[in-house]
Amino acid sequence: MKSSWKLVTYLIVVSMATIMLAACGSSGTSSSSGVSVGIVLPTRDEPRWVQDEQRFKDALADSEYTTEILFSQGSSANEKENVETLLNRGIDVLIIAPHDGAAAGSSVEAAKAEGVTVIAYDRLITETDAIDYYVTFDSVAVGEAQGQYLIENAQGTNVPLYLYAGASSDNNAFLFFEGAWNVLQPKIADGTFVIANSSEATALQDSPELTREEMGRILGQITTNWDPNEAINKAQTHLTAAGADLKGDIAILAPNDGTARAIADVFSTDSEVTSYFVTGQDAEQASIQYIIDGKQSMTVFKDVRTLVEDAMGMAIDVLDGNTPETTGSYNNGKVDVQAKQTDVIVVDEDNVKQELIDSEYYEASEFTGL
Ligand code: BGC
Repeated sequence: MKSSWKLVTYLIVVSMATIMLAACGSSGTSSSSGVSVGIVLPTRDEPRWVQDEQRFKDALADSEYTTEILFSQGSSANEKENVETLLNRGIDVLIIAPHDGAAAGSSVEAAKAEGVTVIAYDRLITETDAIDYYVTFDSVAVGEAQGQYLIENAQGTNVPLYLYAGASSDNNAFLFFEGAWNVLQPKIADGTFVIANSSEATALQDSPELTREEMGRILGQITTNWDPNEAINKAQTHLTAAGADLKGDIAILAPNDGTARAIADVFSTDSEVTSYFVTGQDAEQASIQYIIDGKQSMTVFKDVRTLVEDAMGMAIDVLDGNTPETTGSYNNGKVDVQAKQTDVIVVDEDNVKQELIDSEYYEASEFTGL
C-alpha cells in the first residue's frame, strides 16, 4: 500500500514538473515576436465565430501560451494574408476554421512548408495533405438531429417540407445535409413530407444515399451561403411560388441559427402558413431568445468550450512534442485526417434552461421570459 502511494506521489510530482516545463517550453518555442499558436476564424459577422473567439480568450486567460486570433471576414484572400501574418510571427501551430475548405489548401501548404502543425477547427480543409489534425463536432449527427426533430413534430401526411442548406464551399454543409437526408428521406418516401422548394431534391427523393455530386445539385438550389440575407431572399421566393397546398402547417430544415431566424421571420409573416417547425444550430444567444419566444423550434447546441479545449489541448501536445489523442478520421478527398470529435445536444423550449443556463454557457439575465 505504502509503496503504491509513493509511486502515485512520484507520478504527480513528475507530471506537475512536465506541465511546468511545457508551459515554459511553449513561450520559449515561439520566435522573438512571441506567438506560438495562430488562430484563424472565418468571420466576425456571425455570432457563432465571435463565440469561438470569446471561448478561446476565456480558455487562454491564465495561460502562458502566446496566441493571436485573426478573422478572415468571409474572404479566402484575407485568410491567406492572415496565415502569412501568423507565419511571420513565427507560429509553431496553426488552428484554422477555413472560409472555403478547398481554397484554404494553399495557405496551409505554405504553413506546412515552414514546419507548422496545422489543426483544422470545426471545418475540414479539403483536397490537401497539408493538414495534421481536425477538431470537430459530429456534423452528420447535427443534421440527423435537425431532421429527427421535424419528423417527431410532423402531424399527418404530405407536410410541406422546405429545405435550406449552408455554403457549398463549407464541407460541413454537406455533412449537415447528409445527416438530415439520412432521416428525412424515408419520411419523404412514405408520404409524411412533401418537398416544397427543390426540384433536384424531389428528383432524388427515392435515393436513401446521395453522392456528393447529387448533394451538390440540391445545395445549388437551396443554399443560403450561410448568409441570413440570402436566406430571406430564398424564403420569399419560395413562398411566392408556393400554392396553398404547400402552406398550412409546415416543416423547415434551416441549417443554422442565423439562417433559421431569417427564414422564420419570413414564414411567420405569411398568412397562409398556419404553423411551422424550424431547425437551427449553434445555440446563438438570439436564437435562444427565439426559442423562449416560440419563434424558432430548436437548435443544436455545440459546446464551443469543448472544441476550444480540444484544439488548444492538441496545440499544447504538439508544442510539447507529444502526439495528440484522436478518436477517428475524416477523409478530406486526399488523405485521412486524424480527428477528435465531440457530441452535440438538441435544445428546445423544454431543456433550454437546463442545457444553456444551468451549464453556465449563458446567464439567465441575458434572456427575457425564461
Ligand atoms: C459551422 C456552423 C456555422 C456555419 C456558418 C459551419 O461550418 O459548423 O456552426 O453555423 O458554419 O458559419
